[in-house]
Amino acid sequence: CGIVGYIGHRGCQDILVEGLKKLEYRGYDSAGIAVFTESGLEIKKSKGRLAILEDKLKGEPLTGSVGIGHTRWATHGKPSDVNSHPHTDNSAKFSVVHNGIIENYLDLKAELTAKGHVFLSETDTEVISHLVADEYKGNIVEAVQQAVKRMRGAFALGVLTEYEPEKLVAVRFASPLVIGVGEGENFIGSDIPAILEHTRNVYILDDGEMAILTREGVELLSIDGKHISKEIFHVDWDLVTAEKAGFDHFMLKEIHEQPKAYRDTMLGRIADDGLSVNLKELSMLDDYIRSISKVHIVACGTAYHAGLVGKSVIESLARIPVETDVASEYRYRSPIITPDTLVIVVSQSGETADTLAALREARRNGAKVLAITNVVGSSVAREADDVLVTWAGPEIAVASTKAYSSQLIAFYLLGLNLARVLGTQEQQTVKELIAALHQLPEQVESILTQSAVLKQVAESMANHRSLFFIGRGVDYAVAQEGSLKLKEISYIHSEAYAAGELKHGTLALIEDGVPVIALVTQEGLYEKTLSNIKEVKARGAHVLAVTNAGFEHEVAQSVDEVFSIPKTLPLLTPALSVVPLQLLSYYASLALGHDVDKPRNLAKSVTVE
Ligand code: G6P
Repeated sequence: CGIVGYIGHRGCQDILVEGLKKLEYRGYDSAGIAVFTESGLEIKKSKGRLAILEDKLKGEPLTGSVGIGHTRWATHGKPSDVNSHPHTDNSAKFSVVHNGIIENYLDLKAELTAKGHVFLSETDTEVISHLVADEYKGNIVEAVQQAVKRMRGAFALGVLTEYEPEKLVAVRFASPLVIGVGEGENFIGSDIPAILEHTRNVYILDDGEMAILTREGVELLSIDGKHISKEIFHVDWDLVTAEKAGFDHFMLKEIHEQPKAYRDTMLGRIADDGLSVNLKELSMLDDYIRSISKVHIVACGTAYHAGLVGKSVIESLARIPVETDVASEYRYRSPIITPDTLVIVVSQSGETADTLAALREARRNGAKVLAITNVVGSSVAREADDVLVTWAGPEIAVASTKAYSSQLIAFYLLGLNLARVLGTQEQQTVKELIAALHQLPEQVESILTQSAVLKQVAESMANHRSLFFIGRGVDYAVAQEGSLKLKEISYIHSEAYAAGELKHGTLALIEDGVPVIALVTQEGLYEKTLSNIKEVKARGAHVLAVTNAGFEHEVAQSVDEVFSIPKTLPLLTPALSVVPLQLLSYYASLALGHDVDKPRNLAKSVTVE
């Protein structure tokens, strides 16, 4: 979900709507705004895209200079007009926007119902507006504090009351929230882009902090009412970076930004002589690195797939045993975490609830946590012991591309950094790896010039109901990412299999014409994977192979189509082979007429469990 809020001297309707547009990628099944107008606190909201709300507002604009807005991704209660935010209470004097989940909302609802409150929606958020109203004794700040004390869960809130129209109250508890500081006007936003057009000076709230905004200023308090002073964070990104820059979709733009993302992520981290990687931003000492006995990589979705490659990278470069888990499993399987376990959490947004919970679990058990994230100042970044930022820049498309591949680069750098300290690699090997890393950006550029071929293949794939990705080793890890990407945006059913596992069951699904995408980039495994390709070919599959330049002719004899990626070292092929798979998904989604950047049912950042 996304939150925006304004208090100032200008008409706020457009400021709120424009802010919400920047946040639409956080959730978009409904949207709404609440504004103090001459007749009091007025709310307009509707199910569906923001454009629907905009149309509504064109007919009946809300005139006023204080307001809050929300774009929703449903958690409690289906997308509908009544379940949309902002919510209010029975007196209609209070209005609330909320991101997150109130875990005990049913208990609170029962209690308030007994007191005579009548609820219109199925949401947990409506409970908050009633609770604040119930606690209100003439001071909105105290009412919010009292309400928050009774709420369990994760939330960011924006609260208005008609009784005190000169105040906008904001609270953060485990869901992101920033306060924008302007001149004679102030803002709240769940993300910086929502307010960046108006100010570059922001306070990033921490858990348990609240802000009271007036036109003239911002007061920061802890939830128990103590004053806090915080430094202003000056945002130096430009907004254009977060816009499409001439591409039809954010996803395509972001796929094309990968060469830059690779360069930026490597920048300043590799010695000029090309002989070593030294991640000076990490606080971990060499002695600590030598004490690490095992590594756990924990993440969700695409970041988890990067973690699967990360496992191979760390194991082969640093020779430390690695386990990779999805965060929602990790936190509940009582993992064996010891003080000599390094836990690496990977998260583009740095706000994924399960990943954050895994991080906390690891720290509670005395492990050090290293975060690989794309968002500086995100929750994950702030709570980890060490942070390795992927400099991919803001990623807007729900389907992650440049964040994933930059996470791979981060793993290569980390693996080499560990190897330097542990002395696990020959200098010559390190030198070759670093030279190969430097070539990746240009190699991705050359893949991007061949997208027309992939478009054709994608268009023919788009007619199928189901398809398969196969590979061995890191190719299997990339196959999983390719399959997820395709599912996310084209809605075509697909599965990824370890190529050698086919014969243990999956082969039964192969029949005439079923598309199979085979990754064949691991030199030592060429022959093995080719045999697997022959198994599916014999059952009528239509096979596209992604392989290395130099091997394409041999592969061509066994498959229907070949796409070759430039030659690199076996460990680095994922940073190249994922690119054609991203393009295949993109063009398949396009061919099917889907909303590439905003696939149904999915959100960019999942800040609830
Ligand atoms: C959501 C997104 C995915 C992403 C996952 C993890 O499911 O739709 O694209 O991979 O969350 O997000 P994170 O921000 O933690 O990398």
